[in-house]
Amino acid sequence: MNQLQQELKRRRTFAIISHPDAGKTTLTEKLLVLGGAIRTAGAVKSRKAEKFATSDWMELEKKRGISVTSSVMQFEYDGYKINILDTPGHQDFSEDTYRTLMAVDSVVMIIDAAKGVEPQTIKLFKVCRDRGIPIFTFINKLDRQGKEPLELFEEIEDVLGIESYPVNYPIGMGQSFRGVYDRQEHKIEWYNDKRERQVQALGEVDELADILKDTVDDYTLSQLEENLMLLDEAGSSFDLEAVKAGKQTPVFFGSAISSFGVPTFLEHYLKLAPQPQPRQSSDGMIQPDDSNFSGFVFKIQANMNPAHRDRIAFLRICSGKFEKGMSVYLDRTGKQLKLAQPQQFFADSRELIDDAYPGDIVGLYDTGFYQIGDTVCAAKDTINFGALPQFSPEHFAKVRAKNAMKQKHFLKGVSQLAQEGAIQVYKTQYEETILGVVGTLQFDVFVYRMQAEYGVDLDIEHMTHQVAKWLAHQEDAEELRRNSNNLIVADYKDRPVIIFENDFSLRWFQQKHPKVELRDSSHNM
Ligand code: G4P
Repeated sequence: MNQLQQELKRRRTFAIISHPDAGKTTLTEKLLVLGGAIRTAGAVKSRKAEKFATSDWMELEKKRGISVTSSVMQFEYDGYKINILDTPGHQDFSEDTYRTLMAVDSVVMIIDAAKGVEPQTIKLFKVCRDRGIPIFTFINKLDRQGKEPLELFEEIEDVLGIESYPVNYPIGMGQSFRGVYDRQEHKIEWYNDKRERQVQALGEVDELADILKDTVDDYTLSQLEENLMLLDEAGSSFDLEAVKAGKQTPVFFGSAISSFGVPTFLEHYLKLAPQPQPRQSSDGMIQPDDSNFSGFVFKIQANMNPAHRDRIAFLRICSGKFEKGMSVYLDRTGKQLKLAQPQQFFADSRELIDDAYPGDIVGLYDTGFYQIGDTVCAAKDTINFGALPQFSPEHFAKVRAKNAMKQKHFLKGVSQLAQEGAIQVYKTQYEETILGVVGTLQFDVFVYRMQAEYGVDLDIEHMTHQVAKWLAHQEDAEELRRNSNNLIVADYKDRPVIIFENDFSLRWFQQKHPKVELRDSSHNM
């Protein structure tokens, strides 16, 4: 095994998905504490608090109780290098989440034991399933009374349509939650009154009673024994191949807030989750241990550090070794670039790095070279990992700077935030700016950031339009501009787009102009 293969073997890159409030921040924080990346619990939250002080726009996030940003954190545990990619929980930012999910090899889905499978979990789950990403489930908040475990398995199978395999099973719930029983390794992990973790291997299931009789009441114990027996007899059996194909989800129970079940979860996860996987490209499958370096940009974020006003392109490495200062080709332009000052992200800092491997996320200073979905590779014969999906906007608004003197800043902000993928931007023939978004909260964040980061107050005029379609042929745009009163605009690459009031007006248009070819997005144009 060469060095590259050894590094691959110990890498795990994943995202945590959940409905807001299920405990994503809390679990992330506990994983970081386990990995020694932060010293005390509460650090991520206080890190959040610090950011509010320095980066004003995040206040919006706090006010609304949503997670708008997504970041990357790397830490080590038991010889593994782990990359967690954070995703915004709120549905209005699902496009951002979707792109991040393109950059992971597996996903951890958190379910609140009391609420079960929630709408946003379903949406995000579907994205993972369509990509065949392995999904691990952490059922959280067992310290509160929630739904019965068997009911939750049924819900996962019925609502999400994936087979579940409980790797462990909770001992009690709510006030009487004591820990978990590990079905695979046949041991119990419980917590004493001082919240100290204790692990004890068992010979037979029967011994459970002996060990737990002083810890849990008779009813909890008999329920536990009964349900474990039921699962052994009627439940699914563990199938690693099905897990890797995204067809079976290993399920874990715990309480993130008190760390119960978190170490067990992490240890199993690291053993079962896949290392960085091959990726489809224009030149066939690219194997991660291919010595030719390649990667793609899945996210761009401006003004991460308000003091420096810098813009970072997040690159997921797909193959080969990354070395500081290396030269790569950007497939879109064919131009060569030097990757100077690459950064890696830790829990509370970013640091310059010398090298990185597939699965890792590298932050590159971007002065406008990169676009979301760009592929870079060391070989002159470039490859392409394909465009990242762009969602069709469903809400539109005209925006302008309140103060005409701020026009230059306005244009700069609009263009930078559009390049980040935070919004889509269109121009009318009268040089008016129209924004398109998937969820209306994106407007609020946009207005906020324009003020905080570019010093521009906006007038925003919401439109009633709901649908955008790209015209496949430029000539059609000219013709339609002359002979119709449709709203024809240009996207940031000057490609013609028609914005319709609603589906009805779209169908009316198609009947009237059967020869005009419309596309859902700008893909492959
Ligand atoms: P999110 O990122 O998925 O949105 O969820 P987050 O971790 O912020 O957790 C949402 C709320 O649920 C928080 O409470 C958090 O403390 C609580 N929580 C997380 N894990 C557990 C758990 O295992 N058990 C219980 N009982 N609660 C849990 P909050 O009141 O909104 O915030 P805070 O004041 O506690 O920070």
